[in-house]
Amino acid sequence: MSPQEGIAEVLVSEAELKEICAGLGKQISKDYQGKNLLLVSVLKGAVVFMADLLKEITCECMIDFMAVSSYSGTKTTGVVKFKKDLDVNPDGKDILIVEDILDSGITLSYLKKVLADRNASSIKVCTLLDKPANRKSDIKADYVGRVIPDEFVVGYGLDYNEHFRNLPYVGILSPSVYNSDK
Ligand code: IMP
Ligand code: MG
Repeated sequence: MSPQEGIAEVLVSEAELKEICAGLGKQISKDYQGKNLLLVSVLKGAVVFMADLLKEITCECMIDFMAVSSYSGTKTTGVVKFKKDLDVNPDGKDILIVEDILDSGITLSYLKKVLADRNASSIKVCTLLDKPANRKSDIKADYVGRVIPDEFVVGYGLDYNEHFRNLPYVGILSPSVYNSDK
């Protein structure tokens, strides 16, 4: 089956993703002018968004990556596993965590807590997608690309069991895909 065949509906089109990145990039460039911006992307889901957002940022910045995981199939396990730390020293940096999707909020609260002890000047969050229906932690993103309904989405970096990341848009995963895995 091709990745396209597993999609029930395109939720955020390529054109809309381009617009979202341009808008967020403009706002971030303005807000972080003269600061010490360090964009921290969360592997692996946020890499495509990070790459596109980065090209829209015009102020000085550095980038780095962290890796965590909490998902198995379409369900969060509620336990965040820390897999890769930063290479850049965050001391004195204005960290902007770049996430693919804010769902329960468990991952981001965990990351904010981990980074809070590292002497960063500020820590903020930019998420491409916000799925507020399922929130379990008291966390809000400072920059949001698009608020989405409570659906499991894939594409543009987001995966279902490591598949579908290569789709150029964000789509709702057809339930037949995860039902056939049960
Ligand atoms: P949270 O800890 O529940 O907020 O989940 C955050 C992470 O779970 C995201 O960074 C994604 O990697 C993954 N995730 C949450 N919802 C979805 C989804 O609809 N599709 C794919 N991955 C998701
Ligand atoms: Mg993620």
